[in-house]
Amino acid sequence: MRQREETQPAFETQVISAVRQEEAGTIQGAKLIQAGELVAFPTETVYGLGANGLNGEAVAKIFAAKGRPADNPLIEHIAKKSDVRQLWSRIPKQAQLLMDTFWPGPLTLVAPKCDRVPEEVTAGLETVAVRMPQNKTARALIAKAGVPIAAPSANRSGRPSPTTAQHVLDDLGGRIPLIIDGGACKYGVESTVLSLVGEPTILRPGAITREMIAALIGEVRVSDSILKPMKDGEVAASPGMKYQHYAPAAEVIVILGKPEQAAKRINALYREAEAQGRIAEIAATEQTKHYYKGRRHLVLGDRNEPETLCANLFSALREMDTRADLILAEGISAEDEGLAYMNRLLRAAGFHVIDASND
Ligand code: TXA
Ligand code: MG
Repeated sequence: MRQREETQPAFETQVISAVRQEEAGTIQGAKLIQAGELVAFPTETVYGLGANGLNGEAVAKIFAAKGRPADNPLIEHIAKKSDVRQLWSRIPKQAQLLMDTFWPGPLTLVAPKCDRVPEEVTAGLETVAVRMPQNKTARALIAKAGVPIAAPSANRSGRPSPTTAQHVLDDLGGRIPLIIDGGACKYGVESTVLSLVGEPTILRPGAITREMIAALIGEVRVSDSILKPMKDGEVAASPGMKYQHYAPAAEVIVILGKPEQAAKRINALYREAEAQGRIAEIAATEQTKHYYKGRRHLVLGDRNEPETLCANLFSALREMDTRADLILAEGISAEDEGLAYMNRLLRAAGFHVIDASND
């Protein structure tokens, strides 16, 4: 279970609803961005913590508020496609087709950067990651600010990404001046990150899947570190891959195997934990919830529609973390959006996996 941290509040964090007050949040948010301050805002993936993406000093505040390691670069968010010209020194050959097909949307593209992109954004890399979000509030904020907005997910570093304004407030309340509340995020996992430097390579899976990208541009590589921990000394293609991620304070274990086998093993682990006086909770699915009657469990979605599991994963981890100290989660097939789901779940578990497929 998560302990409350004591922090020194520097701001009285204001929350403005984008639903009830359509423009108030983006007008005030744009003023703050122009003044070099931080604003948390909704996107279709997760909430972002934004700063003026052309101002290195403003961007440095993001790292301080999140407690983020300085060598993990940020994504620049733009309001219209042609704005990539301000950020990239050239447009790689597959980029135009990808942008025309998937932007605005949950796809981030990595390409060689222009000189004006501050090194605080790229953590010293020669490339910069850019995306054009689908969320209208996000785009209105960027357009009004008149600059690209550099933004990571708006969580304290290492915690599950925020998919509601309340999650942002829980993590960053008192540390930032404004949160624009746009309700729950549509996809619930962060954008797909695709590098277009050299062979196209997926560095982080998301709602725009490998299958969708390959159908458009042909073969696409998937970085080795997506379903495996990085080895010591290995250089990360995407620096974010090497950090402990998405982790609640509770221990998380992923159990692999066919639904019935996994459920049996999960129930055995649950009994064992309770016998030791621990509080366990099961991350279940529509297809398997009947195995867990009488046990603490939360249904995340449908095993055959992994996008439903993705949409609920981070909020479920945060919720279960308030009552359990052990979270037992079923693994699913890592295809289509199942790849994004397993990528986040395995990281939340620190790669603690039990394979029940031979039980
Ligand atoms: O959906 C999203 O992408 C959300 C919303 C707010 O847009 N943002 C997000 O940002 O997830 P963040 O900072 O939590 O994750 C950015 C990922 C990290 O894994 C980082 O290492 C990688 O993108 N990245 C950023 N710039 C890169 C670059 N130039 N080369 C390789 N990887 C890069
Ligand atoms: Mg993040």
